[in-house]
Amino acid sequence: MYTEKVIEHFRHPHNQGKLPDYSAVGKVGNIVCGDVMWLYIKVDVDEQGREVISDISWETFGCTAAIATSSMVSDLAKGKTIEEAIAITNKDVADELGGLPPVKLHCSALAADALNEAIYNYLTAAGREIPAALERRHAHIADEMERLERRYAAFLESQEEAHKGG
Ligand code: FES
Repeated sequence: MYTEKVIEHFRHPHNQGKLPDYSAVGKVGNIVCGDVMWLYIKVDVDEQGREVISDISWETFGCTAAIATSSMVSDLAKGKTIEEAIAITNKDVADELGGLPPVKLHCSALAADALNEAIYNYLTAAGREIPAALERRHAHIADEMERLERRYAAFLESQEEAHKGG
């Protein structure tokens, strides 16, 4: 079902954990399954004066594909300029892993979306102009996060009610 590369990244994930000195963090949740990911980026200026993602890490509560895609997106974005990192798509992540089962394709969205959000938060905090594509994707992600939080709130409420009744 999974490629060897997916299994390898799941068993030995790269850049897992929380960076102590990150420049920005992106948090996203998957509305389909409820999995959540935090992605941390450290941005520095290189010798050519370009802003690059000098370090990156992530924390993911999710399935095998979510862990593998988190690991892969961190490999793909590390050392890239902000512009190059913005261009990384869900498909790039899935392709680099040798593909994902169709039912698991939504999992690759989590990793690429978290990168999108970390960059969005970085640019916003710096008072910088947000590229239109990044802004559109952010609006879509923010909408999904809101729906996820509403769903969790209803779930927690129902658990509370069940507990009281028990
Ligand atoms: S099933 Fe939740 S991200 Fe894969």
